[in-house]
Amino acid sequence: MSVLANRLTELLGVEYPIIQEGMGPYQTDQIAAAVSAAGGLGTVSMPGMTKEPEVGARLLREHIDNVASLTDRPFAVNVPVGRDSTGKVLPVSEAYIQAVVDARASDPALERQLRVLTTSAGFPGEFRPLISGSGLVHMHKVGATAHARKAELAGVDVVIASGYEMGGHTHAKPVHTFVLVPNVTEAVSVPVVLSGGARDGRTLAAALALGASGVAMGTRFIATEDNTDWHPAYTERILAAGEGDDAVAPGVYGPARVLRNAAVDRLQRMVENDELSPDELTRWKDEALIRAQSVGDVDGGLVPAGQVCSGISEVVRIAEFVPNMANEAAAILRDLAGAAEPAR
Ligand SMILES: Cc1cc2nc3c(=O)[nH]c(=O)nc-3n(C[C@H](O)[C@H](O)[C@H](O)COP(=O)(O)O)c2cc1C
Repeated sequence: MSVLANRLTELLGVEYPIIQEGMGPYQTDQIAAAVSAAGGLGTVSMPGMTKEPEVGARLLREHIDNVASLTDRPFAVNVPVGRDSTGKVLPVSEAYIQAVVDARASDPALERQLRVLTTSAGFPGEFRPLISGSGLVHMHKVGATAHARKAELAGVDVVIASGYEMGGHTHAKPVHTFVLVPNVTEAVSVPVVLSGGARDGRTLAAALALGASGVAMGTRFIATEDNTDWHPAYTERILAAGEGDDAVAPGVYGPARVLRNAAVDRLQRMVENDELSPDELTRWKDEALIRAQSVGDVDGGLVPAGQVCSGISEVVRIAEFVPNMANEAAAILRDLAGAAEPAR
């Protein structure tokens, strides 16, 4: 049995309570497979929120099949749930959820591996019967305690509590990880996963001390040898970033944390001056995101990353990083337990 086995690892079918989260619209197939193979839980990312639903669903299925061909361990798929102005779930989000359910039902080998659906952004309440009927473990990411309660009431199996310092789309109301996670662990009884700012064994030990059952990370996994899908300039930017080098800019569906650069200034100006229609603006953001990751235009493109990049200074190999992180956390917890003198 692994060092940090608990009810979360049992539910997810993994060795360590360490999760790589979705980082769409980018491809994370290699990262996801490496994290799962190393004993954590890797996540397939959604290929974009502005895709035609059937095109997006086909692409997502290709990524699922790709990850299944790279590892025989369990993995997750992330689907951000957007809603239109009438409150209806966006067709692309619906197509992604259905694609995950269909993939799992299509093949017994895939059913064993495709174990988890992680939803984020909005809550897909109307899809709960479909998700639970499919046998998927449903994790939902929240940035507020009220949303964690709502998710638990609706039957979600695991809550990811993600603090405002997280990379990518963050929350409208800024509640940081250190405040949010203990609030959420007090409010719900399902396992809670800390997200936003985690990067090593110390942060995993801290998550467990706050009552969480594990950690989930995005930014840390970009700077890895296994990340062959992204332009090296993106990783370089993350390694070089210090405290204060990030900004919260208008994202595709809400505020998003990115690294400060010329593209952020340009975006702020375009928004202030109403230069583009909402559709044109969304297309510009989508293209700016892809420019940074695919061709390494880290000045003219948008570079989502968490504040944690100020503490990330080296590229790691996932096969070593994941078990080392778990072992480091276990050693810290052991040392602290040994050092604690009972009060007299
Ligand atoms: C490049 C990038 C892209 C992201 N895309 C998504 C996404 O498609 N869906 C989602 O739920 N979260 C997305 N996120 C947020 C991550 O899933 C995760 O919650 C976050 O990175 C955790 O904080 P950390 O960056 O401090 O580890 C993204 C984050 C980054 C850095």
